[in-house]
Amino acid sequence: MPIMLGDTAPDFKAQTTEGELSFHHWMGDSWALLFSHPKDFTPVCTTELGEVAALKTRLDKRSVKAIGVSIDSLEDHHAWSKDILEVTGHALNFPLIADSDKHVAKLYGMIHPKALDTLTVRSVFIIGPDKKVKLTLTYPASTGRNFNEILRVIDSLQLTANQALATPANWQVGDHCIIAPSVSDEEAEKRFPGYETIKPYLRTTPCKG
Ligand code: BEZ
Repeated sequence: MPIMLGDTAPDFKAQTTEGELSFHHWMGDSWALLFSHPKDFTPVCTTELGEVAALKTRLDKRSVKAIGVSIDSLEDHHAWSKDILEVTGHALNFPLIADSDKHVAKLYGMIHPKALDTLTVRSVFIIGPDKKVKLTLTYPASTGRNFNEILRVIDSLQLTANQALATPANWQVGDHCIIAPSVSDEEAEKRFPGYETIKPYLRTTPCKG
């Protein structure tokens, strides 16, 4: 069964570049960005891992812990990390799972054999502090991910987590939010005074949060 939004993210124990960890315990009360890449010592993956390392401050600000997965060995991960630093200028600052037995890859459905025989594709799972899956994305091996988009989604998820709000297409921090259709006009006036009605089903308000 594929992992669906709202599912509890499967827990696992894994060997990583930062030692052995239990996923849920490691997350603690943070959000998690769990992402797979096909293979160590490959060009697109090198740029992606450097990019995630570069985002550390922005992820910390959002209480998000990043963790990478591929089915390579710990030895390879450590050797490759030197290249990542050399090429991108960013040292790995998050754990990289050495999933040689494919346990995590299989648990999360990260291997899509019709796209990439035995290797993990570029999967992304954003998991909330409640351990529920909030977002899944799957990119092919040939396309490096847009991590600014991933940060944008995290901002939207965190903003709307405890409010009856949603964010429109191409939303960026600072743009107006949409009031959820489940909120009556009376309730909307109490919670979002002065909200704007564009259509009865499309009501906007400055985002709070
Ligand atoms: C890459 O990271 O460049 C890559 C990895 C596997 C297949 C294709 C590209």
